[in-house]
Amino acid sequence: MITSAGPEEGKSTTAANLAVVFAQQEKRVLLVDADLRKPTVHYTFNLANNLGLTTVLTKQRTLKESLRHTGIEDLSVLTSGPIPPNPAELIGSKAMKQFLQEAKEQFDIVIFDTPPTLAVTDAQILANLCEGILLVMYSAKSGIDEVNKAKELLLKANGKLLGAVLNHKKAQKEDYYYYGG
Ligand SMILES: Nc1ncnc2c1ncn2[C@@H]1O[C@H](COP(=O)(O)OP(=O)(O)OP(=O)(O)O)[C@@H](O)[C@H]1O
Ligand SMILES: [Mg+2]
Repeated sequence: MITSAGPEEGKSTTAANLAVVFAQQEKRVLLVDADLRKPTVHYTFNLANNLGLTTVLTKQRTLKESLRHTGIEDLSVLTSGPIPPNPAELIGSKAMKQFLQEAKEQFDIVIFDTPPTLAVTDAQILANLCEGILLVMYSAKSGIDEVNKAKELLLKANGKLLGAVLNHKKAQKEDYYYYGG
């Protein structure tokens, strides 16, 4: 799963890019929009959002019915679906565990886009269910205290932190030197 301490740090951008790159490496990828508060994956891939994660979790539709295919081979997308009144409850539901099991059987990699960790509990609940977490930090905007707090909360929720992504880092001239330019 991809998360960050605060809003607008680049979670959705990172999740979408990562999903595309893995698909290009011929992994069967499922990108899930688990930001049930401010979903954006359907905009990114220009997809309808009448079906998605919420229609699967509320058993209105099956996973197969709710999946969308992108123009990119090996990349399937599960958009958020209609925004529910109880996002955290849905994410922590038994149906979520069943969905994860099914997704793991059908895909090599399942990537979750999530809301900010410090704002709501959704990311912490997912941290406990997912196999790894990437914490996105927006360079020069993310406060070190906020990032550390988010890290603490995710670890406390039994999440496995794989690493962090430093987003929007201004390239320094000398950075290029090491590429032999
Ligand atoms: N490295 C980058 N360079 C330029 N623009 C970026 C970069 N990363 C993110 N953005 C832009 O910043 C905005 C926020 O990014 P994004 O939607 O990925 O963040 P988010 O963490 O998912 O936000 P939210 O908390 O609202 O879900 C978007 O308009 C995105 O296009
Ligand atoms: Mg987002």
